[in-house]
Amino acid sequence: MTGPKFQNLLVTGGAGFIGSNFIRYLLDQKDFHGRVINLDALTYAGNPASLGDVEAAHGGGRYRFVQGDICDRSLVEAVFRDFQVDGVAHFAAESHVDRSIHGPEAFIRTNVLGTFTLLDCARVAWAGRQDVRFHHVSTDEVYGSLGPGGYFREDTPYDPRSPYSASKASSDHLARAYHHTYGFPVTVTNCSNNYGPYQFPEKLIPLMILNILEGRPLPVYGDGRNVRDWVFVDDHNSAVWLVMTRGEPGETFNIGGENEWQNLDLVTTLCELMAGALGRDPDEVKKLITFVADRPGHDRRYAIDCSKLKKTLGWNQTMDFREGLAKTVAWYLDNPDWVQGIRTGEYTRWMTEHYPE
Ligand code: NAD
Ligand code: TYD
Repeated sequence: MTGPKFQNLLVTGGAGFIGSNFIRYLLDQKDFHGRVINLDALTYAGNPASLGDVEAAHGGGRYRFVQGDICDRSLVEAVFRDFQVDGVAHFAAESHVDRSIHGPEAFIRTNVLGTFTLLDCARVAWAGRQDVRFHHVSTDEVYGSLGPGGYFREDTPYDPRSPYSASKASSDHLARAYHHTYGFPVTVTNCSNNYGPYQFPEKLIPLMILNILEGRPLPVYGDGRNVRDWVFVDDHNSAVWLVMTRGEPGETFNIGGENEWQNLDLVTTLCELMAGALGRDPDEVKKLITFVADRPGHDRRYAIDCSKLKKTLGWNQTMDFREGLAKTVAWYLDNPDWVQGIRTGEYTRWMTEHYPE
């Protein structure tokens, strides 16, 4: 089957963690010759420095940046018109569960209203065309929480339990409703926890790396036995690209690492890796681990069955977890300017408020 050939691909949230890695990945693909338009509001989580190399190599040519809000209908309409958009990879979102507990409103606005605005502008602009594609990037958290056994499959009923996952669930339903109601060419992916370079250090892995570096406490929620399934960001992005170009419109695919870790084991492994990289005593580094109050409503276990993606489209993970973690640690140690750059303003205030020393 031959899929859409994008000339002008709109990436939303391209200044964030996964979106910036996606743009870098995409511009290297042999089956993509078009132009990328990155629409990003540059919230606290958006960082143009994450695409400094892309801007230098392709800025004004194959790469264009537009600062703007996906909830702003007239702006989104203008982007579709001015850039003749023929594909969308929709990453923009409020993405951090802890923030959604402290302030859910921004999640409803961006994740629900913003996704609706994009879907509707695309529907009107594309007027029934089928050689185009809207890909909606979502999370496995929409399925709720697992006990010790079982896996999330594409037909697992939705059971979101945080404001973040509820807002993502809502956006997934809208995306699928547009396909059912209007025949609009949508694909959806639900992915497990990502890790890799350029991740904002409010999420577990980069937070721990930077706290170890600075000798600060490593806050482990509850008993540290919650389980997450970790996938390297480029493996997520290779799946997104495969689904966008080869997946049937209307289809949903789960993406995962098949790589389950209890948080405490993962943090302990990071202590060992960091101790090796910094020439420190691993036992001293592990003493930084500090059990703190549990996250309210903390989902116990996520685990993905991604056999549909493997069987239907031939996808596979390529990154070994220990190698990926070592690569990620090395990236944070090699990029102090990027780390310093984001540790300003709103981010610092939020972290100080929620992780007081
Ligand atoms: P992120 O928080 O690092 O980046 C989000 C980006 O969206 C930022 O650049 C931000 O400026 C932008 N943005 C936020 N609100 C916007 C708005 N109203 N208009 C325009 N831009 C806006 O997030 P991420 O971790 O890169 O996640 C990207 C997507 O992948 C999200 O949809 C998330 O739900 C999904 N996802 C993430 C993970 C993960 O482990 N991080 C796993 C599965 C799915
Ligand atoms: P996180 O990176 O916030 O991703 P998500 O909540 O979307 O899975 O958290 C991953 C796991 O790590 C989750 O079980 C919560 C836990 N966690 C901690 O124990 N301490 C922390 O400081 C953070 C940020 C997360």
